[in-house]
Amino acid sequence: MKTYNHIRVKPINGAMGAEVFDVDLSGDLDDVTFAEIRSAWHDHLVLIFRDQNLTDQQQYDFSARFGPIIPHPYVKGLPEIPEIFQIIREPGENFSWDGYYHSDLMFLERPPLGATLYAKECPPYGADTAFCNMYLAYETLSDGMKTLLDGLEAVNESGNPQKYSNKYQSMEELAKNDAMSATHPVVRINPDTGRKALFTSLAFTKRFKGMTEKESLPLLTFLYEHAIQAHLGCRLAWQPHSLALWDNRVCLHHAVADYFGEVAKHRRVMQRATIEGEVPIPARAQAPKAA
Ligand code: SIN
Repeated sequence: MKTYNHIRVKPINGAMGAEVFDVDLSGDLDDVTFAEIRSAWHDHLVLIFRDQNLTDQQQYDFSARFGPIIPHPYVKGLPEIPEIFQIIREPGENFSWDGYYHSDLMFLERPPLGATLYAKECPPYGADTAFCNMYLAYETLSDGMKTLLDGLEAVNESGNPQKYSNKYQSMEELAKNDAMSATHPVVRINPDTGRKALFTSLAFTKRFKGMTEKESLPLLTFLYEHAIQAHLGCRLAWQPHSLALWDNRVCLHHAVADYFGEVAKHRRVMQRATIEGEVPIPARAQAPKAA
């Protein structure tokens, strides 16, 4: 296992995810510590930092070390920092927002590099965020399926923006923005690691380019069910003041609405900063290995 000199990294399991200790994200991180965090992020895809007391600006500043912070196209942000928005679940809500595993904003031309999510209020149990490792999802396919997918592109759609106002507070004003769509490679290369990752989700991926939705759905469903197998992922258990950082290019995630029972009694408030990404690099851009 890799050793770190400035942070302590405890893997959540063998598939992905790690808890990071001995670092305070509220201050100016020196470059060496930041390089170790970045390296752990590449190795584990999602990191969780416990007991961080962060202002909104400090969450922004840490996130911005990875790249520019972009607003959500359909969600209203904080008054002072519109790029950061809150995901608020109130007592009495039901399960309706507990959707598919997804990569955030797959319908942008440049889907996000990653995101930070800061826990402000958590239910006393449940309410994890579940992740899956899309490198492993790709690598555990047969060679025949990999070859097929390497050459495909898929159309990713936001769907009716109005649906977001059912999911998040403060969204009505932005729901009038147009629906969006972007065509991306089904298998993308992370330029930071050189590894290939599957890049589809039933949340946004509607069809393969050049095929109908009906033709595409069986394979998209297979890929989704393959990717979200428990042994290819991890769950983050939240505590107030935990901050998660994930690589949105190479993992899917979803919030598990398991703390409700019949009626939710608890409030959950999370705050997300989204980091701008690159135009996805297709797997076919990778030179084949010499025979
Ligand atoms: C998200 O989908 O970005 C938020 C996940 C969560 O609330 O756990």
